[in-house]
Amino acid sequence: MKNNDIIHTDNINDQLKNIIKKYDQEKKLIITDHNCRKYCLPVIQEIIDDTFEIFEIKPGEDNKSLDTVKQLWSFLSEKKYTRESLIINLGGGMVSDLGGFAASTFKRGIPYINIPTTILAQVDASVGGKTGINFMSLKNEIGVFSEADHVLISEVFIKSLKKREFLSGFAEMLKHALIHNDEHYSELIEFITEYESNENLKKLNSLTKQSVKIKEHYIKNDLYDKGKRKILNFGHTFGHAFESHFNLNKNLEIKHGEAVAQGIICEIYLSHKKLNFESDKMNRISNDIKNIYKIIKPKSDEFDLIHNLMTHDKKNLNDVINCVLINNNNIPLFDQEITKDDITDALNYLNSV
Ligand SMILES: NC(=O)c1ccc[n+]([C@@H]2O[C@H](COP(=O)([O-])OP(=O)(O)OC[C@H]3O[C@@H](n4cnc5c(N)ncnc54)[C@H](O)[C@@H]3O)[C@@H](O)[C@H]2O)c1
Repeated sequence: MKNNDIIHTDNINDQLKNIIKKYDQEKKLIITDHNCRKYCLPVIQEIIDDTFEIFEIKPGEDNKSLDTVKQLWSFLSEKKYTRESLIINLGGGMVSDLGGFAASTFKRGIPYINIPTTILAQVDASVGGKTGINFMSLKNEIGVFSEADHVLISEVFIKSLKKREFLSGFAEMLKHALIHNDEHYSELIEFITEYESNENLKKLNSLTKQSVKIKEHYIKNDLYDKGKRKILNFGHTFGHAFESHFNLNKNLEIKHGEAVAQGIICEIYLSHKKLNFESDKMNRISNDIKNIYKIIKPKSDEFDLIHNLMTHDKKNLNDVINCVLINNNNIPLFDQEITKDDITDALNYLNSV
């Protein structure tokens, strides 16, 4: 396994210069999408010399595809990239998933750096070694576990991010705090309440740092998702079902983090119902989330569709729907079985919030 190096910095260029020194004479490719080329590439312009090339991909989840990877592999092959070359993924999770996959598979693996430019990528996608693409309409169907050699995280990129994207990534930060650290959760709520009025990003680096530390804690010794890494799926059993249901069945565009935020409300409710998670805390968290995100309330005639989507969840074992729930001592537990009645109760609770 690689020695994954995660650096939080407010001086991205100096850090980057330091890292790329050892690739001085080698070919270097920056993979980025159209928006990140416009908003993020200028930030690192001073490190770019004639040993660099840029590969621009179209933004959006639809382009996290085999077609894009084929174009990228062809480019690498035609331009004679070798295992001594370097790839830099500059962008959100779409770029790091796809770029990391292309880098890890070309000639059995080229070193690569992630420079995540969205909150979601900074605290989640760029860390932990899951790379991949969508295939035959299935999300992340093809991929490999392969950690970046370095991850460079800086709030400098976040200034140009749309607020809705910001909040979507922020849901993963809330999730990290809820499974691991109550104080950090309160800090996040304080930060976002102020951010709503002044969009001041000061403090963000220290918060993303804590968030990444939590993710690292759950990945340590479980890179391949067999045990405690599953806890990072808190909010996602319902979240994934909401994402598919509202985007596909209802044609309402809902972002991943928005769906996860709603999922957290449902899974906190089931934590209370099944494991005695404190009710005051459940209500407080639900209210916090309601104040940050617009909740899309599913109607009762949609409950069956949502249940059906949950029966296809990757985390299920022997046709039983599994979820992460938090017990009355604040300990998150994975592989917690939930029934169709539990799902109905949780959706009714979501509607009551
Ligand atoms: N590998 C993992 O562990 C993991 C974890 C979570 C999510 N993911 C994947 O991450 C992807 C979602 O990532 P995302 O939310 O970062 O979305 P994204 O990469 O699609 O970026 C969202 C939008 O923001 C734009 N953008 C990115 N950075 C910007 C910036 N600084 N300023 C202005 N615009 C900017 C992009 O061009 C895009 O239009 C999904 O494909 C998901 O499957 C992977």
